[in-house]
Amino acid sequence: MTRPRRQLPLLNSGTRHANRSNMTCRFRCGNACDHPAPNRSLNTYFGDLFASRRNVLRAGSVGAIAIGAGTAGLLATGNAAADPVSEPAGPAAPDPRHHSGKLTFEPVPPNTDDKVTVPSGYEHSVIIEWGTPIIEGAPEFDIDNQTAKAQRGQFGYNNDYLGVLPLGRGDHKALMVVNHEYTDEILMFREYPGGSEADPEQIKIAMAAHGLSVVEIRRDRETGQWRTIMDAKGRFSEYNRRIHLDTKFKFTGPATGDDLVKTKADPRGTTPIGTQNNCSGGLTPWGTVLSGEENFNQYFVGGDAAPDEAKPALKRYGFNLDVHHDEENRRFDRVQERFDLSKHPNEANRFGWIIEIDPHNPNSKPRKHTMLGRFKHEGANPIIAKNGKVVVYMGDDERFDYLYKFVSDEKYRKHDREHNLRLLERGTLYVAKLSFTSEDEIDGSGKLPSDGAFDGAGKWIKLAHNDESFVDGFTAAEVLVNTRLAADKVGATKMDRPEDVEPNRLTGKIYAALTNNSDRGKDGKPGADEANPRNKNKHGQIIEITENRGDNTSKEFNWTLPIVCGDPNDESTFFSGFDKSKVSPISCPDNVAFDSSGKNLWISTDGNALGSHDGLFAVPLTGEHKGWLRQFLSVPVGAETCGPFISEDNKTVFVSVQHPGEVDGATVDKPASVWPNGDYAKPAVVCAWRPDGKDVGR
Ligand code: FEO
Ligand code: CA
Ligand code: CA
Repeated sequence: MTRPRRQLPLLNSGTRHANRSNMTCRFRCGNACDHPAPNRSLNTYFGDLFASRRNVLRAGSVGAIAIGAGTAGLLATGNAAADPVSEPAGPAAPDPRHHSGKLTFEPVPPNTDDKVTVPSGYEHSVIIEWGTPIIEGAPEFDIDNQTAKAQRGQFGYNNDYLGVLPLGRGDHKALMVVNHEYTDEILMFREYPGGSEADPEQIKIAMAAHGLSVVEIRRDRETGQWRTIMDAKGRFSEYNRRIHLDTKFKFTGPATGDDLVKTKADPRGTTPIGTQNNCSGGLTPWGTVLSGEENFNQYFVGGDAAPDEAKPALKRYGFNLDVHHDEENRRFDRVQERFDLSKHPNEANRFGWIIEIDPHNPNSKPRKHTMLGRFKHEGANPIIAKNGKVVVYMGDDERFDYLYKFVSDEKYRKHDREHNLRLLERGTLYVAKLSFTSEDEIDGSGKLPSDGAFDGAGKWIKLAHNDESFVDGFTAAEVLVNTRLAADKVGATKMDRPEDVEPNRLTGKIYAALTNNSDRGKDGKPGADEANPRNKNKHGQIIEITENRGDNTSKEFNWTLPIVCGDPNDESTFFSGFDKSKVSPISCPDNVAFDSSGKNLWISTDGNALGSHDGLFAVPLTGEHKGWLRQFLSVPVGAETCGPFISEDNKTVFVSVQHPGEVDGATVDKPASVWPNGDYAKPAVVCAWRPDGKDVGR
């Protein structure tokens, strides 16, 4: 391949918001922070819609009682290993009878080491890294001779979400499904002149490095280490699969076939091609994987010449409408014209969805579920409600955007996988609107209110139920394609960048990472409120949502902030009242997970604004140690910690180490990180475990 030589464009020195490099901002989200937060809506909070504080507390105590009653139902979700009828299923629900959930590990101190650090008594290893061949016929990785064809058979770039599904009986075989969120072309090619001048093959390689990988892994019974597998003849697992920007999908739900999703290449509006910027995700009880298409806007050009009628929605979704061809853009339009909005404006409407893939069936066609709405989906995590319906919680990761949930029409049926595979196609989409108990005391400093809690109530506002819209002036399809505009209209609460939103299957409570919001309280921008209590919020917070009566289909909830992140010496931080002198500093929570006790929240970070590297943290959610947050792991230079995933038997912690070496000025030949192999930086998935076989966290 010939590669034109040119100075790399527009890379300034220094860091930007949080601790992120210019390189991160450019490749991750198309410099979103250089543009105004797209939510310019004037929707405001109407406190009189909500219950008084007395009602809030009463409802909360009812919920706390009901949750115990719901636990049996929650525990009843499928588990292939335990079922007499062995059908593919998601991991078993948490079980505190078998896992105490005690956290006794010695915390990893904050550091800037170019390695993965785990607590003493633990081992860790790389399971798979960018470029590892996973499909029959794919060549060994060679950075100097990379091709798009090779990349389509190799593990993709920038691993983010990972989920591990049990495979058959026993604890030693699994399918690992990994998102590849975005590409760092400067760290993938020895020379990369920018999208406008890149060799078209470089662009095709980048497209092939997006998407997802499915990889069968096995655990060594002697050592506890997980590895990818080949059979005795050196063949890859039949489950291994790559999904990328050329993979055919199908739409489901009410927006399927709507004019808004029709294009010249797909005049029926049923068959979108490819997925991109897959950030986080979740496992379903029927053994499939959900994945969120997040910063999809950055891959398009031609916004200036898009049709006028398309521009308001494009603007609300952060598309660049100022220039025709952004030099910094990857210029996918140079190899596939559909990424040019001036010619194919509706192509934009075919990204920004929750996708579902069935890793147990390598030939299945992945789907984009329109009933779950279109926004910058961080991820999606389901739970089976007490009445059997499936509820999916979701966040729209942008400054001042919203929290959502979907409730299925039909109920989960334990041994009817065909039925369960259709559960996300019909249902109701809601957006969250919060109220506050101490509104008058919130001054943007993070000072704890006199009632001792950042807390309040909330309502799930109905946006659409199948073909029926509940938003004036919108059809149901319009609600689902332009969900942000519909949610603006009903006055949803503007949050500090909702990242992962995950229900705890032991308690039914929901935990969301609100990662940061540099614009909170700036001139002309919304100021602090009780759920987003700090102006220029650099470090983020965790919100806990308790649905009324412990019913995940409820239209009302209570909420509180158990963790307000930062340096524990900073007065604006809060760790559920726990002794701050024992707490690890934490900044920019991103992904959350639970271990098999259901009692602990594990939080990974992205963009540590405290000067040390990102990491993984664990914190008890109840009991005398509630709020005792400790760092479990740290990642190399320039990386963020993703995943995370705790194995069903509680013996392994999996994390994605995303974008190591993503530091301004770094290249393949002048790397800022040489993790994991000592030469140049490569994103990779890591597992950590105790060689003595004890549960993780001990
Ligand atoms: Fe891709 Fe919201 O993080
Ligand atoms: Ca309060
Ligand atoms: Ca994320």
